[in-house]
Amino acid sequence: MSVNRGTVDKGTALPWRAAMRAALYGPAGFYTGPRAAGPAAHFRTSPHVAESFAAALWRLIWFLDIELGSPSRLDVVDMAAGNGELLTQLSYYAAAHPGNLARRAKLTGVELRERPVELPDDIKWTHQLSELSEIDGLLIANEWLDNVPLDIAELDDEAVARLVTVNTATGEQQLTEPLSRTDDVWLAHWWPLRNPGDRAELGHTRDAAWRHTVDSVRCGVALAIDYGHVRGTRPPLGTLTGYADGHQARPVPDGRCDITAHVAVDAVVAACSQADAETIVTRQREALRALGIRDIHPSIELAHSDPAEYLRSLVAASHCAELTDQSGLGNFWWIAQPVGLSAASQQRLAQRIGAVSC
Ligand SMILES: C[S@@+](CC[C@H](N)C(=O)[O-])C[C@H]1O[C@@H](n2cnc3c(N)ncnc32)[C@H](O)[C@@H]1O
Repeated sequence: MSVNRGTVDKGTALPWRAAMRAALYGPAGFYTGPRAAGPAAHFRTSPHVAESFAAALWRLIWFLDIELGSPSRLDVVDMAAGNGELLTQLSYYAAAHPGNLARRAKLTGVELRERPVELPDDIKWTHQLSELSEIDGLLIANEWLDNVPLDIAELDDEAVARLVTVNTATGEQQLTEPLSRTDDVWLAHWWPLRNPGDRAELGHTRDAAWRHTVDSVRCGVALAIDYGHVRGTRPPLGTLTGYADGHQARPVPDGRCDITAHVAVDAVVAACSQADAETIVTRQREALRALGIRDIHPSIELAHSDPAEYLRSLVAASHCAELTDQSGLGNFWWIAQPVGLSAASQQRLAQRIGAVSC
């Protein structure tokens, strides 16, 4: 229970979506409050692990530049950019790239948090995706959709699906009214509940958020990277959890921990599939390997001949192993939505990111 100016804050019971929005993005929110340190202070995302993640994405950007015919402006947009770690690393790869791609590549972070002071000057920073018009290039959203607020439904003893509310100070939860029509339709299609006590995370807010994001791309690719599940593998009790200070935590929406739930990948894909551009879905392990990441361990002979190089290679190999680990980041879904690309380009894109087929 949190204490506020000497009085005990008893909290308010809110549906999860409203509670999550306030806890993450409100004036005292985990991401936007005055003391919010940023994601890297609490957990490790792929850009925090190693620059090899950015190196792989830079190869994808380079590929896209060629597919788009080296346009005079190639947009690289990081949706939900955190503290700009990925963009900063990409700016170094851009600067080192031969030819004029560095001049043509326009890097932009879209993020509710303030612009980080140490961000390189040539990276643009905005709080709203709608401030960018007609993106031509690559839009990346790494670990964003799992933080898009959603409601939770639970099946009661009479097999009625009810909206769950949560107390914003204690995390105590209660079943309330039956679901709205929108929730009900989504639930029936994407996450049918079977037994009393089963819970579902109502992902239509993520579907809408991703559809809106894809719509902002005029020509290129929108790429969401996140943990998730598909029909047939939904966990009966859901996935909602908290993170703070490097640990998993009880999800109390009081602004002191991240609140996250896995993404219903198939629902997101269906929400933005287009007649002439099928979504390409793969896993991070396959995608990074196809983009050139290798966790090759150095030989023990190198330890004797060049100990410093041996250590460097060992660290690089362990970073690659972490990024491709099947029980962790390697199991993340890559949801790539081509926009305005020819069928042949889409085919090459699927191969480039290790997808079996389009
Ligand atoms: C888990 S962090 C991921 C940060 C970064 N992409 C990374 O991989 O390290 C989620 C970020 O999404 C941001 N965010 C959430 N909703 C947003 C929105 N609608 N527009 C911009 N940023 C948003 C949060 O402020 C937070 O920094």
